[in-house]
Amino acid sequence: MGKIIVAIDGYSSCGKSTIAKALAKYAGYTYVDTGAMYRAIGLYTLRHGLTQEADIVAALPLIKVGFILTDGAQHVTLNGEDVEGQIRTLEAGNCASRISQIKQVRAFLVAQQQKMGEDKGIVMDGRDIGTVVFPKAELKLFLTASPEVRAQRRYDELVAKGEKPNYDEVLADVNDRDYRDTHRAESPLKQAEDAIVVDNSHMTPDEQMKVIYRLFDEKAK
Ligand code: DC
Repeated sequence: MGKIIVAIDGYSSCGKSTIAKALAKYAGYTYVDTGAMYRAIGLYTLRHGLTQEADIVAALPLIKVGFILTDGAQHVTLNGEDVEGQIRTLEAGNCASRISQIKQVRAFLVAQQQKMGEDKGIVMDGRDIGTVVFPKAELKLFLTASPEVRAQRRYDELVAKGEKPNYDEVLADVNDRDYRDTHRAESPLKQAEDAIVVDNSHMTPDEQMKVIYRLFDEKAK
């Protein structure tokens, strides 16, 4: 069975990374969370107080984003530092959404992502994987769920982390992020023509994975 590339795109908080991780494990493939890469750059700009596009672009050669395995889990690194714990906040997410609109930031990360897929055997999730990073990916999934369902999931995650979120604010944030992700000039989130849409609003995780494993098996045969 030859190795394939699996591109998973979709809205924020659709469970993309959970699905991609499970599928990578099932397939014995490498998993790459591209959102974490944008978040790491967002964190860099927060730490250095960079707000102007020109300053952010000028800093790119100083930024090295990578991944390490820690206790079997993939953690993103920023210039060698494990920043996994710091990129999963609302602030870092919003910052990632803003810097991801900069053309040069996208080109910088897309080039790295394409390199990671050179040998195939990869499951990559993000917003532009099936459209820009791997337009020839053998399996493209486009995940979606209603904004309310996604806001509740994000709310539950934040509570589990000990934060005290307000549901209405989390929902507003989901809607804002959707708007920015789908309306930006550079590689907006959109479904690739040949992507398979999976709406998981009313699926249990098990039901959803069954569907996805079957789709993978069909393509990887
Ligand atoms: O998937 P996430 O929430 O971790 O992504 C954080 C932000 O990064 C999100 O607002 C959109 C952006 N992003 C992107 O523009 N392209 C990608 N391939 C992945 C993420």
